[in-house]
Amino acid sequence: MKDRLLPVGIAGLGSYAPQRVLTNAELAQMVETSDEWIFQRTGIRERRVAAEGEDSGAMGTLAALRAIENAGLEPGDLDLILCATTTPDKPFPSTACRIQDRIGAKRAGGFDLNSACSGFIFALNTAAQFIRTGLKKRVLVIGTETLSRLIDYEDRNTCVLFGDGAGAMVLTPLEDAGRGEYLGGSIHADGGKDDVLEVPAGGSSLPASLETVRNRQHYMVMGGNKVYRFAVSTFVRLVREALEPYGYEELGRIVPHQVNQRIIESALERLDLPKEAAFTNIHKYGNTSAASVPMAFDEAYREGKLPEGKLVCSVAFGAGLSWGHFLLRW
Ligand code: UT7
Repeated sequence: MKDRLLPVGIAGLGSYAPQRVLTNAELAQMVETSDEWIFQRTGIRERRVAAEGEDSGAMGTLAALRAIENAGLEPGDLDLILCATTTPDKPFPSTACRIQDRIGAKRAGGFDLNSACSGFIFALNTAAQFIRTGLKKRVLVIGTETLSRLIDYEDRNTCVLFGDGAGAMVLTPLEDAGRGEYLGGSIHADGGKDDVLEVPAGGSSLPASLETVRNRQHYMVMGGNKVYRFAVSTFVRLVREALEPYGYEELGRIVPHQVNQRIIESALERLDLPKEAAFTNIHKYGNTSAASVPMAFDEAYREGKLPEGKLVCSVAFGAGLSWGHFLLRW
């Protein structure tokens, strides 16, 4: 059976960040914080915020069009669209369907996938299976987030950390893509810790009411310290497991979820890897949840930071709790 699975590759990459920059200095006027505290604790200098009326679908559309162009394809060539987001345009229809319409991918089906910060990793692993089995040929995978709409700008625990943006990849059989061979990945969860990072209201368990709005329950709440410890140990474990069959000398770059610069650096230290082993752009965009891996990947690719023929590993962890990885040979 295994012999019949088709090798999968990354045919195209693209990303988009909204224009509006929100600096640490501006946040320091909104809550009790400082540029120094935010930068030292997170590595973030600024983040982007979507304009009024600019939603996850709109940003995902722009990232998608760039990835499709980079792949040398037309939207009409796509068979399937997977959209990872925790901030869909509406409860339904899916943001994937809205993007399908906006880009004119007439032949493609599509659906959303929500696993918070791990969303893009899970979506890419899912997309790869469709191609490996021959069920679909050209799959667009998007990570897009408008976290500014879930953030309480009176809560300094969360408002300094998150930003908006979108990234996308087009996956095809390796023989068409010619690069980025998908070597495998993982999808994990521990749903017993769902209150570590959550938006309490607005879903079926606590629908919107005057009271939920009054109690500010539509905003993200986070046990920062718990997520911090979980993220460092998970990062280390995922990279070790991914590279075990190959050896560290094969590693070209880690493109991790842009969770927090300190988390990334302390994981690298434990792995005995230099700072440069990981690509980061968190200083410019903050943590963009499901959008962070494809945004970082696209930038690393454009800056020539993905060494040809070497392994590139992406890891992510977030609400759920959930965590996972994918491994490519670039
Ligand atoms: O993608 C997954 C999503 N979640 C995450 O990425 C979160 C991961 N966690 C983190 O990144 C870090 O835990 C934070 C950046 C959120 C917080 O950093 P920390 O080093 O863990 O700080 P802390 O929560 O231990 O707080 C230390 C102190 C506290 O004051 P006291 O109690 O020591 O007096 C906080 O009240 O820092 C205070 N503090 C702040 N001070 C200035 C918390 N947030 C701020 C702030 N500005 N924005």
